[in-house]
Amino acid sequence: MDHHATTLAPIPPEQTEPAPTAVRPRFQHQGIAFGCDYNPEQWDPAVWREDVVLMREAGVDLVAINIFGWADLQGPDGAYDFAALDEVIELLHAAGIRVNLGTGTASPPPWLTTRHPEILPVVEDGTTRFPGGRQAWCPSSPTFRRYALELVEAVAERYGGHPAVAVWHVSNELGCHNALCHCDESTRAFRRWLRERHGTIDELNRAWGTSFWSQRYTDWDEILTPKLTLSSRNPGQMLDFHRFSSDELLAHYRAEAEAIRRRSAVPVTTNFMVTAHIRNLDYWTWAADMDVVANDHYLDHRLAEPRTELAFAADLTRGLAGGDPWLLMEHSTGSVNWQPVNLAKEPGQLLRNTLAHVARGADAVCFFQWRASLQGSEKFHSALLPHAGTDSALWREVLELGRIVGALDEVAGTRVRAEVALLFSWESWWASDAETRPTHEIEYLDQVHALYGALHDLGVSVDVVRPGADLTGYRLVVVPGLYLVSDEGAAALDAAVASGTHALVTFYSGIVDEHDRVRPGGYPGAWRDLLGVRVEEFAPVLPGTPIALESGAAASLWADRLETTDAAIIDRFADGPAAGRPAVTRRDGVDGAGDAWYLGTLLEPDDLLDLVGRAVERAGAASEPGASADVEITRRTDGERTWRFVVNHGADPVELDARGTELVTGSDVDGRIVVPAGGVRVIREEAAA
Ligand code: GAL
Repeated sequence: MDHHATTLAPIPPEQTEPAPTAVRPRFQHQGIAFGCDYNPEQWDPAVWREDVVLMREAGVDLVAINIFGWADLQGPDGAYDFAALDEVIELLHAAGIRVNLGTGTASPPPWLTTRHPEILPVVEDGTTRFPGGRQAWCPSSPTFRRYALELVEAVAERYGGHPAVAVWHVSNELGCHNALCHCDESTRAFRRWLRERHGTIDELNRAWGTSFWSQRYTDWDEILTPKLTLSSRNPGQMLDFHRFSSDELLAHYRAEAEAIRRRSAVPVTTNFMVTAHIRNLDYWTWAADMDVVANDHYLDHRLAEPRTELAFAADLTRGLAGGDPWLLMEHSTGSVNWQPVNLAKEPGQLLRNTLAHVARGADAVCFFQWRASLQGSEKFHSALLPHAGTDSALWREVLELGRIVGALDEVAGTRVRAEVALLFSWESWWASDAETRPTHEIEYLDQVHALYGALHDLGVSVDVVRPGADLTGYRLVVVPGLYLVSDEGAAALDAAVASGTHALVTFYSGIVDEHDRVRPGGYPGAWRDLLGVRVEEFAPVLPGTPIALESGAAASLWADRLETTDAAIIDRFADGPAAGRPAVTRRDGVDGAGDAWYLGTLLEPDDLLDLVGRAVERAGAASEPGASADVEITRRTDGERTWRFVVNHGADPVELDARGTELVTGSDVDGRIVVPAGGVRVIREEAAA
């Protein structure tokens, strides 16, 4: 189809850089916010009044509106009708409920896509994705951008100074569906982005390794987005396309944020999707643009350990926030509607899931959505107010949750401290889960979850940080399968280990540079010296083929043909393709340096737990007494007092030493506390963590 022939006007300079952090407004709220998405467009005005009464009853004090409001706000003639939105905002405001105000640009109305079909996204097979769902717009479309900014300006002009507005919510889950667009406009934008990144066509050819398979380019106009090919595609091109696509949506965010900031002093953010099933955006490059970091999280029951993934996502969101408190913009009271089987929550799980986020730094816990829809794709998605109405176990749980979140208000603004860091990278994720690789049986995120899960089950608090961050303050840094690392990222780990930090690096780490170019001389090229090992060959095995280690530990799927150059051999392969060779090594630190462990296989969970436990212990990192896979224990602190969160997912009560005030039950604790099966307790202790 004809995709807009004009060239995208260059984005004005003020939109290409984050606003200076010094002038950033902060999200301010009395205590922990308790809130939800609200879609009044779907309801009669009489229902709005009942909603506000019930919101107050539940303790809801932050409501996201106008997320999908465009079609209701603006008609094909361009004229705006704000009457309904005015009324909703005034109703909420009069009830003391603050507004998380959507810009309304998440989904273009049908009149716009009819008038400008060139804004529709095109997927990798070259076919268009049509309206009728949501997010049917190309991130690089100047036409979409123009219409969207017009709407944002009108909304910000009208409500920018309204006292009810607590935070701005740009679009919605940017890139959830439309991140990777292959239309002609995107192709042109990709070429411009590449020119900016690589400078010359020769540099691009070098970066992508186009001497392979006769792919050498002689002109920028020969370059396409990586549409489907007959064979596997160029990995350098794929990687740059992911980077480009993330940057295009960030540019869109910046343009909307800029339009708001000219009209409002209220903090601006958008809801990230730090979650297992979406990986389109490199949020490390986005975080600095957020006045406050916000995340949406849904338990994914396709995973082996959904609640451990919740903890990981929460810790990663805190990492994006630089350790500051963050907002949980969406999660669910029960089932979602988009998994193959949408599980309801067990009684008590709502409280456990919600407080697990607060325990890891959330200062707001909000839900999708307020009232369950009667129509549309999401009519079987849970809500605070279910189809069954207020005479329901779920509503009673919501009321109880609102009361408990209110009892935790004093926790707002406090921070989590961790002595262990885990390196995580979207760039490496994109590169390592490539079309061609040593094995398709191992995915990056599974490695991350396995290592994180071991730390979690040991009761170790973890900061999830970006490669290249300063790691010198940590006792231990864990590096799961970080296939791609830049020289700077590699050097940051070297520097930390030299300063006394211990490291645990797992197989398929440090393999390529930022262009996906192998670091030669034996793997892991980036960290051979640090670890004192050299891998000559990867030797993955077929599923169902166990690998035994000499210690009796069990492994599968992967073996490194490894030799030590300057490290102790902790364990060896007893069989399999690397039989007799080292499987676990440690280069002990001298002159104040930390120990550097290397793991060259995929250990079974119990054996991984054992290994990670030894690394944690040698590093002298703290683990919470009483914590286990079933009992999460974490702390927030204001520097003087500590709030210890105990989330008991297990079937048995747990008893712990504690002294202070327990906030969920409002009782004094004098020596011992029993946390009932499935229960949560938060103990304020008069000492810093
Ligand atoms: C999010 C989205 C919401 C709603 C929710 C359902 O992706 O932001 O609008 O669709 O999921 O789980």
